[in-house]
Amino acid sequence: MVYWSTLLLAGLAASGAHGTPVEVARRATPTVYLAGDSTMAKTGNGLMGWGEYLAQYITLPVVNKAIAGRSARSYTEEGRFSEIEQLVQADDIVVIEFGHNDGGSPSSASDNGRSDCPGAGDETCTSGKTGATVYTFNHYVEAAARSFVAKGARVVVSSQTPNNLWETGTFVYSVPRFVGYAAAAAEHVGAGASFVDHFQAVADMFLKLGSAKTNALYPQDHTHTSPEGADLVAQAFVEAVGKRFNGTTALDSYVKSPLPAVF
Ligand SMILES: *[C@@H]1O[C@H](CO)[C@@H](O)[C@H](O)[C@H]1NC(C)=O
Repeated sequence: MVYWSTLLLAGLAASGAHGTPVEVARRATPTVYLAGDSTMAKTGNGLMGWGEYLAQYITLPVVNKAIAGRSARSYTEEGRFSEIEQLVQADDIVVIEFGHNDGGSPSSASDNGRSDCPGAGDETCTSGKTGATVYTFNHYVEAAARSFVAKGARVVVSSQTPNNLWETGTFVYSVPRFVGYAAAAAEHVGAGASFVDHFQAVADMFLKLGSAKTNALYPQDHTHTSPEGADLVAQAFVEAVGKRFNGTTALDSYVKSPLPAVF
């Protein structure tokens, strides 16, 4: 009886104004899962990741699974993508954003467990510390994306955020290789995956904000933002999605209006 009531309630919730329960198995609203590092995660002590602000600008519930210090490799090896794979249902959306902790060389004796094998294909490296095989950023991200798409979910591969581009008082930046890798990952996965250049959107926003305002968003170092900075970085993401900056993503129809205008 309890089971039946739950089904009926779910059906009514999904049926809108007409009141005829249909498709009770499918949830009315997709859930957005976030996979990333500290720049996306719920952190603290005067800092915050942008994933905590996303729900304010879209019409979907957000589950922030980003964790500080992780790379595409360590997020994979710790089973964190697998955990999301267990959770996702058809129509859910997973945003994957890594890069800050993915650089370096896994072949060195001091392999930190985070560095990916260089390249955007099926290159492999051997960990100089453990002897284990290490794969590329693309290998890890694409394997995760395919596992979500196989469950009927959609994936948005997002490029990493930039560091403080006004750190020296002059606006200078070069695009990290992981931005191109992220774009390639979405292309390689194909149907069900899309790309948004969050790096470029935030860079454009910082250029517009100028030196003083941008520097004020980085209270401790050049990577981690204040809560105010995280809110703006979330707005840049949503603006890029809403403007179809790099094509149409699965989040396209869930952006609240008015669209943020930060860049
Ligand atoms: C994404 O689109 C923006 C706006 O057109 C562009 O500046 C940027 O280079 C694109 N990113 C990639 C990786 O193609």
